[in-house]
Amino acid sequence: MELVYARSAKQGILKHRDKRLLIAVVVSIVTGAGLGEIFWPRVKPSFEEAVEPVPESNHKLPNEAAFEQTLRSCLGAACYTATPKGSKAEARIALLAPPSQAADAFFAWYVALAKRGGATARKVEWIQTAHAPPYGYGKNHGYTRIVRLALPLLSSVAASSQGNAAESLAQHVRWHCRVSHVAAHTAQLTVRSASDLLDVVERRLTTERLLSFVGIKVAPDLLDEGERTFAPVLRALQAADASIDALDASRWRLADVLSSELSATQNLRAWPCRSLWVDMDDAALVEAARALSPNCSRPFTTCSVARDREEMFGKRSEPIK
Ligand SMILES: *[C@@H]1O[C@H](CO)[C@@H](O)[C@H](O)[C@H]1NC(C)=O
Repeated sequence: MELVYARSAKQGILKHRDKRLLIAVVVSIVTGAGLGEIFWPRVKPSFEEAVEPVPESNHKLPNEAAFEQTLRSCLGAACYTATPKGSKAEARIALLAPPSQAADAFFAWYVALAKRGGATARKVEWIQTAHAPPYGYGKNHGYTRIVRLALPLLSSVAASSQGNAAESLAQHVRWHCRVSHVAAHTAQLTVRSASDLLDVVERRLTTERLLSFVGIKVAPDLLDEGERTFAPVLRALQAADASIDALDASRWRLADVLSSELSATQNLRAWPCRSLWVDMDDAALVEAARALSPNCSRPFTTCSVARDREEMFGKRSEPIK
Protein backbone atom coordinates (compact mmCIF):
# COMPACT_ATOMS: atom_id res chain seq x y z
CA MET A 1 0.00 0.00 0.00
CA GLU A 2 2.76 2.40 1.03
CA LEU A 3 4.82 1.40 -1.99
CA VAL A 4 1.93 2.05 -4.30
CA TYR A 5 1.33 5.40 -2.67
CA ALA A 6 5.03 6.35 -2.92
CA ARG A 7 5.10 5.39 -6.55
CA SER A 8 2.08 7.36 -7.49
CA ALA A 9 3.38 10.34 -5.53
CA LYS A 10 6.66 10.13 -7.44
CA GLN A 11 4.81 9.86 -10.72
CA GLY A 12 2.85 12.90 -9.72
CA ILE A 13 6.07 14.84 -9.12
CA LEU A 14 7.53 13.70 -12.42
CA LYS A 15 4.39 14.76 -14.20
CA HIS A 16 4.59 18.09 -12.48
CA ARG A 17 8.27 18.42 -13.46
CA ASP A 18 7.47 17.45 -17.02
CA LYS A 19 4.89 20.15 -17.16
CA ARG A 20 7.33 22.72 -15.83
CA LEU A 21 9.95 21.58 -18.31
CA LEU A 22 7.46 21.83 -21.12
CA ILE A 23 6.47 25.32 -20.05
CA ALA A 24 10.13 26.34 -19.78
CA VAL A 25 10.84 25.04 -23.29
CA VAL A 26 7.81 26.77 -24.73
CA VAL A 27 8.71 30.02 -22.99
CA SER A 28 12.31 29.86 -24.19
CA ILE A 29 11.19 29.14 -27.73
CA VAL A 30 8.79 32.04 -27.64
CA THR A 31 11.36 34.37 -26.09
CA GLY A 32 14.01 33.12 -28.46
CA ALA A 33 11.78 33.89 -31.41
CA GLY A 34 10.98 37.23 -29.88
CA LEU A 35 14.65 38.08 -29.40
CA GLY A 36 15.35 36.84 -32.92
CA GLU A 37 12.69 39.18 -34.25
CA ILE A 38 14.37 42.05 -32.46
CA PHE A 39 18.00 41.33 -33.33
CA TRP A 40 18.06 39.31 -36.52
CA PRO A 41 16.86 42.00 -38.97
CA ARG A 42 19.90 44.15 -38.09
CA VAL A 43 22.17 41.33 -39.25
CA LYS A 44 20.14 40.33 -42.27
CA PRO A 45 21.10 42.97 -44.87
CA SER A 46 24.75 41.81 -45.04
CA PHE A 47 23.43 38.27 -45.60
CA GLU A 48 21.21 39.43 -48.43
CA GLU A 49 24.06 41.29 -50.08
CA ALA A 50 25.89 38.01 -50.54
CA VAL A 51 23.02 36.62 -52.63
CA GLU A 52 22.89 37.17 -56.39
CA PRO A 53 20.56 40.05 -57.12
CA VAL A 54 17.36 38.81 -58.79
CA PRO A 55 16.69 40.81 -61.96
CA GLU A 56 13.44 42.75 -61.85
CA SER A 57 11.05 40.97 -64.22
CA ASN A 58 9.83 43.22 -66.99
CA HIS A 59 6.80 40.98 -67.27
CA LYS A 60 5.29 42.33 -64.09
CA LEU A 61 3.87 45.64 -63.05
CA PRO A 62 5.77 47.36 -60.23
CA ASN A 63 2.75 46.97 -57.92
CA GLU A 64 1.79 43.48 -59.06
CA ALA A 65 2.92 41.82 -55.81
CA ALA A 66 0.09 43.62 -53.98
CA PHE A 67 -2.36 42.17 -56.48
CA GLU A 68 -0.89 38.67 -56.23
CA GLN A 69 -1.51 38.70 -52.50
CA THR A 70 -5.23 39.05 -53.15
CA LEU A 71 -5.37 35.79 -55.15
CA ARG A 72 -7.05 33.39 -52.73
CA SER A 73 -7.26 29.64 -52.67
CA CYS A 74 -9.37 27.50 -50.35
CA LEU A 75 -7.66 24.25 -49.43
CA GLY A 76 -8.42 21.81 -46.69
CA ALA A 77 -11.37 20.15 -45.03
CA ALA A 78 -13.18 23.35 -44.04
CA CYS A 79 -13.77 24.34 -47.68
CA TYR A 80 -17.17 23.72 -49.14
CA THR A 81 -17.27 20.89 -51.73
CA ALA A 82 -20.84 20.20 -52.74
CA THR A 83 -21.88 18.60 -56.01
CA PRO A 84 -25.26 19.79 -57.25
CA LYS A 85 -28.11 17.29 -57.32
CA GLY A 86 -28.64 15.90 -60.79
CA SER A 87 -24.99 16.12 -61.75
CA LYS A 88 -24.01 13.16 -63.89
CA ALA A 89 -20.53 13.08 -62.33
CA GLU A 90 -19.43 12.79 -58.72
CA ALA A 91 -17.70 16.16 -58.96
CA ARG A 92 -18.07 19.20 -61.18
CA ILE A 93 -14.66 20.84 -61.44
CA ALA A 94 -14.50 24.37 -62.82
CA LEU A 95 -11.44 25.39 -64.80
CA LEU A 96 -11.45 29.17 -64.68
CA ALA A 97 -9.35 31.76 -66.48
CA PRO A 98 -9.94 34.73 -68.75
CA PRO A 99 -9.89 33.47 -72.36
CA SER A 100 -6.41 32.75 -73.77
CA GLN A 101 -4.55 30.06 -75.64
CA ALA A 102 -2.32 29.67 -72.61
CA ALA A 103 -5.35 28.80 -70.47
CA ASP A 104 -6.61 26.37 -73.13
CA ALA A 105 -3.23 24.65 -73.27
CA PHE A 106 -2.87 24.50 -69.49
CA PHE A 107 -6.33 23.07 -68.84
CA ALA A 108 -6.01 20.57 -71.73
CA TRP A 109 -2.76 19.34 -70.19
CA TYR A 110 -4.31 19.11 -66.72
CA VAL A 111 -7.45 17.28 -67.81
CA ALA A 112 -5.48 14.78 -69.91
CA LEU A 113 -3.18 14.08 -66.98
CA ALA A 114 -6.06 13.71 -64.54
CA LYS A 115 -7.77 11.27 -66.92
CA ARG A 116 -4.54 9.26 -67.03
CA GLY A 117 -4.66 9.25 -63.25
CA GLY A 118 -8.17 7.82 -63.19
CA ALA A 119 -10.53 10.80 -63.35
CA THR A 120 -13.21 9.13 -65.42
CA ALA A 121 -16.28 10.91 -66.81
CA ARG A 122 -18.34 9.31 -64.05
CA LYS A 123 -16.04 10.82 -61.43
CA VAL A 124 -15.36 14.27 -62.85
CA GLU A 125 -17.14 16.66 -65.16
CA TRP A 126 -14.76 19.41 -66.27
CA ILE A 127 -16.23 22.83 -66.93
CA GLN A 128 -13.74 25.17 -68.55
CA THR A 129 -15.05 28.70 -68.73
CA ALA A 130 -14.15 32.36 -68.43
CA HIS A 131 -17.49 33.20 -66.79
CA ALA A 132 -16.98 34.25 -63.19
CA PRO A 133 -18.98 32.14 -60.74
CA PRO A 134 -22.03 33.95 -59.37
CA TYR A 135 -21.90 35.01 -55.74
CA GLY A 136 -23.04 32.47 -53.21
CA TYR A 137 -22.22 28.91 -52.26
CA GLY A 138 -22.14 25.74 -54.34
CA LYS A 139 -25.87 25.82 -54.92
CA ASN A 140 -25.36 29.03 -56.86
CA HIS A 141 -22.28 28.33 -58.93
CA GLY A 142 -22.78 24.56 -59.17
CA TYR A 143 -19.10 23.64 -58.82
CA THR A 144 -17.65 21.09 -56.42
CA ARG A 145 -14.20 22.61 -56.75
CA ILE A 146 -12.54 25.38 -58.71
CA VAL A 147 -9.12 25.47 -60.34
CA ARG A 148 -8.09 28.95 -61.43
CA LEU A 149 -5.19 29.91 -63.65
CA ALA A 150 -3.67 33.33 -63.01
CA LEU A 151 -1.20 34.56 -65.60
CA PRO A 152 0.90 37.62 -64.80
CA LEU A 153 -1.48 40.53 -65.42
CA LEU A 154 0.26 41.92 -68.50
CA SER A 155 0.41 38.48 -70.13
CA SER A 156 -3.20 37.86 -69.17
CA VAL A 157 -4.29 41.07 -70.87
CA ALA A 158 -2.02 40.64 -73.89
CA ALA A 159 -3.10 37.02 -74.39
CA SER A 160 -6.81 37.75 -74.38
CA SER A 161 -7.31 40.90 -76.42
CA GLN A 162 -5.93 43.45 -78.81
CA GLY A 163 -5.81 47.07 -77.80
CA ASN A 164 -7.49 48.75 -74.82
CA ALA A 165 -4.94 47.33 -72.45
CA ALA A 166 -5.85 49.64 -69.57
CA GLU A 167 -9.54 48.74 -69.66
CA SER A 168 -8.80 45.04 -70.16
CA LEU A 169 -6.49 45.16 -67.19
CA ALA A 170 -9.28 46.52 -65.00
CA GLN A 171 -11.57 43.75 -66.24
CA HIS A 172 -9.05 41.07 -65.41
CA VAL A 173 -8.36 42.48 -61.95
CA ARG A 174 -12.10 42.67 -61.24
CA TRP A 175 -12.63 39.15 -62.53
CA HIS A 176 -9.94 37.82 -60.20
CA CYS A 177 -11.60 39.77 -57.39
CA ARG A 178 -14.82 37.85 -58.01
CA VAL A 179 -13.14 34.48 -58.19
CA SER A 180 -11.18 35.17 -54.99
CA HIS A 181 -14.39 36.07 -53.16
CA VAL A 182 -15.72 32.59 -53.96
CA ALA A 183 -12.61 31.10 -52.30
CA ALA A 184 -14.01 32.40 -49.03
CA HIS A 185 -16.07 29.20 -48.92
CA THR A 186 -15.63 26.95 -51.98
CA ALA A 187 -12.61 24.67 -52.44
CA GLN A 188 -10.32 26.44 -54.83
CA LEU A 189 -6.79 25.99 -56.09
CA THR A 190 -5.26 29.05 -57.71
CA VAL A 191 -2.25 28.36 -59.93
CA ARG A 192 -0.01 31.32 -60.65
CA SER A 193 1.76 30.49 -63.88
CA ALA A 194 4.85 32.62 -63.21
CA SER A 195 5.71 31.11 -59.84
CA ASP A 196 4.04 27.69 -60.04
CA LEU A 197 4.62 26.45 -63.58
CA LEU A 198 7.89 27.74 -65.02
CA ASP A 199 10.48 26.26 -62.68
CA VAL A 200 10.69 22.48 -62.95
CA VAL A 201 10.75 21.81 -59.19
CA GLU A 202 7.80 24.11 -58.50
CA ARG A 203 5.96 22.64 -61.45
CA ARG A 204 6.25 19.12 -60.07
CA LEU A 205 4.81 20.30 -56.75
CA THR A 206 2.04 22.13 -58.56
CA THR A 207 1.24 19.05 -60.63
CA GLU A 208 1.00 17.02 -57.46
CA ARG A 209 -1.28 19.63 -55.89
CA LEU A 210 -3.49 19.79 -59.00
CA LEU A 211 -3.93 16.03 -59.10
CA SER A 212 -4.57 15.49 -55.41
CA PHE A 213 -6.98 18.44 -55.44
CA VAL A 214 -9.34 16.30 -57.54
CA GLY A 215 -8.76 13.19 -55.45
CA ILE A 216 -6.13 11.46 -57.57
CA LYS A 217 -3.51 9.43 -55.77
CA VAL A 218 -0.28 10.79 -57.18
CA ALA A 219 2.34 8.32 -58.37
CA PRO A 220 5.83 9.33 -59.60
CA ASP A 221 4.98 7.92 -63.04
CA LEU A 222 2.11 10.32 -63.35
CA LEU A 223 4.31 13.29 -62.41
CA ASP A 224 6.83 12.19 -65.04
CA GLU A 225 4.01 12.00 -67.55
CA GLY A 226 3.06 15.55 -66.57
CA GLU A 227 6.60 16.71 -67.31
CA ARG A 228 6.72 14.86 -70.61
CA THR A 229 3.52 16.46 -71.82
CA PHE A 230 4.06 19.99 -70.55
CA ALA A 231 5.89 21.47 -73.57
CA PRO A 232 2.79 22.89 -75.33
CA VAL A 233 1.76 24.69 -72.13
CA LEU A 234 5.21 26.18 -71.72
CA ARG A 235 5.18 27.39 -75.32
CA ALA A 236 1.76 28.98 -74.86
CA LEU A 237 2.83 30.69 -71.62
CA GLN A 238 5.97 32.00 -73.31
CA ALA A 239 3.93 33.25 -76.26
CA ALA A 240 1.64 35.11 -73.84
CA ASP A 241 4.67 36.69 -72.16
CA ALA A 242 6.18 37.63 -75.51
CA SER A 243 3.01 39.38 -76.64
CA ILE A 244 3.09 41.99 -73.87
CA ASP A 245 5.39 44.21 -75.91
CA ALA A 246 2.44 44.86 -78.21
CA LEU A 247 0.23 46.33 -75.45
CA ASP A 248 -1.11 49.75 -76.36
CA ALA A 249 -0.64 51.45 -72.98
CA SER A 250 2.47 52.40 -71.04
CA ARG A 251 3.53 50.46 -67.97
CA TRP A 252 2.97 53.62 -65.94
CA ARG A 253 -0.60 53.90 -67.11
CA LEU A 254 -1.24 50.23 -66.37
CA ALA A 255 0.39 50.40 -62.95
CA ASP A 256 -1.85 53.41 -62.28
CA VAL A 257 -4.96 51.47 -63.22
CA LEU A 258 -3.95 48.62 -60.92
CA SER A 259 -3.26 51.02 -58.05
CA SER A 260 -6.62 52.66 -58.40
CA GLU A 261 -8.41 49.28 -58.57
CA LEU A 262 -6.65 48.15 -55.40
CA SER A 263 -7.05 51.34 -53.43
CA ALA A 264 -10.75 51.79 -54.32
CA THR A 265 -11.57 48.28 -53.09
CA GLN A 266 -9.41 47.77 -49.97
CA ASN A 267 -7.20 45.47 -52.02
CA LEU A 268 -10.21 43.74 -53.60
CA ARG A 269 -11.78 42.91 -50.25
CA ALA A 270 -14.79 45.17 -50.79
CA TRP A 271 -18.00 43.37 -51.74
CA PRO A 272 -19.25 43.21 -54.41
CA CYS A 273 -16.33 43.49 -56.81
CA ARG A 274 -16.43 46.30 -59.36
CA SER A 275 -18.30 45.81 -62.60
CA LEU A 276 -16.68 44.09 -65.55
CA TRP A 277 -18.49 46.52 -67.85
CA VAL A 278 -15.85 49.25 -68.12
CA ASP A 279 -16.73 50.80 -71.47
CA MET A 280 -20.14 50.30 -73.07
CA ASP A 281 -19.03 51.95 -76.34
CA ASP A 282 -16.17 49.63 -77.14
CA ALA A 283 -17.40 46.44 -78.83
CA ALA A 284 -14.33 44.37 -77.84
CA LEU A 285 -14.62 45.37 -74.19
CA VAL A 286 -18.35 44.68 -74.16
CA GLU A 287 -17.70 41.25 -75.59
CA ALA A 288 -14.99 40.66 -73.00
CA ALA A 289 -17.35 41.77 -70.21
CA ARG A 290 -19.99 39.36 -71.45
CA ALA A 291 -17.49 36.50 -71.50
CA LEU A 292 -16.12 37.27 -68.02
CA SER A 293 -19.43 38.02 -66.26
CA PRO A 294 -21.45 35.33 -64.52
CA ASN A 295 -23.80 33.56 -66.90
CA CYS A 296 -26.92 32.84 -64.87
CA SER A 297 -28.40 30.69 -67.66
CA ARG A 298 -25.75 27.99 -67.55
CA PRO A 299 -26.61 24.55 -66.20
CA PHE A 300 -26.53 24.24 -62.38
CA THR A 301 -26.20 28.03 -62.08
CA THR A 302 -28.46 30.17 -59.90
CA CYS A 303 -28.03 33.88 -59.46
CA SER A 304 -29.63 34.85 -56.16
CA VAL A 305 -27.69 38.07 -55.80
CA ALA A 306 -29.17 40.84 -57.95
CA ARG A 307 -25.73 42.13 -58.78
CA ASP A 308 -24.95 38.96 -60.74
CA ARG A 309 -27.91 39.40 -63.09
CA GLU A 310 -26.99 43.06 -63.52
CA GLU A 311 -23.49 41.98 -64.47
CA MET A 312 -24.75 39.35 -66.86
CA PHE A 313 -26.83 41.92 -68.73
CA GLY A 314 -24.39 44.81 -68.39
CA LYS A 315 -26.85 46.96 -66.48
CA ARG A 316 -24.17 48.66 -64.46
CA SER A 317 -21.05 50.22 -65.83
CA GLU A 318 -18.08 51.31 -63.78
CA PRO A 319 -15.59 52.95 -66.13
CA ILE A 320 -11.95 52.96 -65.10
CA LYS A 321 -10.16 56.12 -64.07
C1 LIG B 1 -24.91 31.60 -71.23
O1 LIG B 1 -25.26 30.24 -71.11
C2 LIG B 1 -26.25 29.81 -72.01
C3 LIG B 1 -26.63 28.39 -71.64
O2 LIG B 1 -25.48 27.58 -71.57
C4 LIG B 1 -25.74 29.97 -73.43
O3 LIG B 1 -26.73 29.58 -74.35
C5 LIG B 1 -25.34 31.43 -73.66
O4 LIG B 1 -24.76 31.56 -74.93
C6 LIG B 1 -24.35 31.87 -72.61
N1 LIG B 1 -24.11 33.30 -72.75
C7 LIG B 1 -22.87 33.81 -72.83
C8 LIG B 1 -22.79 35.27 -72.94
O5 LIG B 1 -21.87 33.13 -72.82
